[in-house]
Amino acid sequence: MDKYAVVGNPVEHSLSPQIHTAFASETKQDLEYQALLLNADNFEQQMRELQASGYKGVNVTVPFKEQAWQMADQLSPRAQDAKAVNTVIFQDDGKIAGDNTDGIGLTRDLVLNHEVLITHRKILIMGAGGAVRGILGPLLSRKPGLVTLANRTVDKAERLAEEFFHMGEIEVSPFDDLGRDRYDLIINGTSASLNDEVPPIPDEILGINSICYDMMYNIKHPTAFVNWAQQRGALRAYDGLGMLVEQAAESFYIWRGVRPSTAEVIQMLREQA
Ligand code: ATR
Repeated sequence: MDKYAVVGNPVEHSLSPQIHTAFASETKQDLEYQALLLNADNFEQQMRELQASGYKGVNVTVPFKEQAWQMADQLSPRAQDAKAVNTVIFQDDGKIAGDNTDGIGLTRDLVLNHEVLITHRKILIMGAGGAVRGILGPLLSRKPGLVTLANRTVDKAERLAEEFFHMGEIEVSPFDDLGRDRYDLIINGTSASLNDEVPPIPDEILGINSICYDMMYNIKHPTAFVNWAQQRGALRAYDGLGMLVEQAAESFYIWRGVRPSTAEVIQMLREQA
């Protein structure tokens, strides 16, 4: 049986084993998928051990995505842009190929599952860390009207924006300056939700048709940002569970060449909460 895993630290609460096992049974693929806790200090060596013991590929999660990007022999263009790898393919020729499916996971969830328009829309993205770097390329390739990047540390947003200017129009703003414009789509890519916090954003950024999306998810209760959006009358507000399942589906497709359906899996995860 072909072996796959998600590697991270911590990793015990990962939903990926459940998601990939469901994909495998739906598509009749003979594979097993586990969650593996790796030590923080010798990632590369542990990855080579997994490769040597016959794993076909792994998903990489916090805090190893950048190290996976560094060690890969080959990178897809989207992994190059993201400077992070969430999908590793242990190739038959012994090479390690790295891809990044996070951004396509977000855009597929927005566009296909929620029918959210990106093209020509005004989009506010909050955050300028690794999570946002991973989604900028796929979002910009759908040609939004304007992307505003807001971050607590403005320098960081400026540096990130510079890397993506060639792909589309991006402006940078401190949180303090937001409020003059309303946005069609507001994406929270900060890690503030982990502490049940919302970035310091004014209510005025919401118009009557604004859609809010939190890249974090919580299957038990709405995230702080989803709550914020619902309380202020956003047209729709979503968390990132669909993104998680869609990025997994894209990884599965890379490894197995078959695209699993995602709606049932998203529903199953919500219902088990
Ligand atoms: P990740 O890989 O999840 O993106 P990261 O690279 O550490 O993690 O980035 C975290 C992001 O969340 C950053 O944009 C951070 O803002 P700073 O660059 O100013 O540190 C943002 N962030 C974290 N907690 C926040 C909070 N309470 N309010 C606003 N932004 C926050």
